[in-house]
Amino acid sequence: MLFSNEENTLPIAEDAFLLKGFLLGNGEALLLALNQVVEQSPFRFMVTPGGHSMSVAMTNCGPWGWVTDGQGYRYQMSDPVTKEAWPTMPAIFMTLAQEAAEMAGFPNFLPDACLINRYSIGAKLSLHQDKDETDFSQPIVSFSLGLPAIFDFGGKTREAPKKALLLEHGDVVVWGGKSRLNYHGVRSIKAGSHPVLGEYRINITFRRCQ
Ligand code: SIN
Ligand code: FE2
Repeated sequence: MLFSNEENTLPIAEDAFLLKGFLLGNGEALLLALNQVVEQSPFRFMVTPGGHSMSVAMTNCGPWGWVTDGQGYRYQMSDPVTKEAWPTMPAIFMTLAQEAAEMAGFPNFLPDACLINRYSIGAKLSLHQDKDETDFSQPIVSFSLGLPAIFDFGGKTREAPKKALLLEHGDVVVWGGKSRLNYHGVRSIKAGSHPVLGEYRINITFRRCQ
């Protein structure tokens, strides 16, 4: 299926859009590139500053990677597991992230961080804001692959009303501008099997952090 602009670009909130099926047609190439990243910097379960092991396994590519441990949440240029630089951001990641951002009204997106989240069945990400970045003028671009998820997209406070969005293989969410600091989270992944990714959901999230 080819991506046809308007009808697949669904507004969620101010400056926030769901690009339904945007990645379809590039799924295989994305997963090939992902495998190369993961060979160099494997998925790992990071620990929150409060000492809890996260249910989502993570890795990064690009110049900066998001990490959490007893010292706090932050971006750093080296992988604490390999002690090396994070893998280079694959060209296809960058190209598709920039195209998605442009489609959502952010034509100059230049991400310097790409966090890769792997959800197994039952994994979830509690409601949070993305605020470890220094530049909030650039949007967040988030790719979904594999098992579906319910993504809660809220407002400026934890209590603000939320929209529950179904994110499926090939979907992209872009939020920035007036929605850049909106609360969001991923509900516990339901049991199932995806034809390509089996019992996993992969989320690839692009940000400008510096
Ligand atoms: C995130 O909030 O950083 C990840 C969102 C997702 O997995 O869809
Ligand atoms: Fe987030």
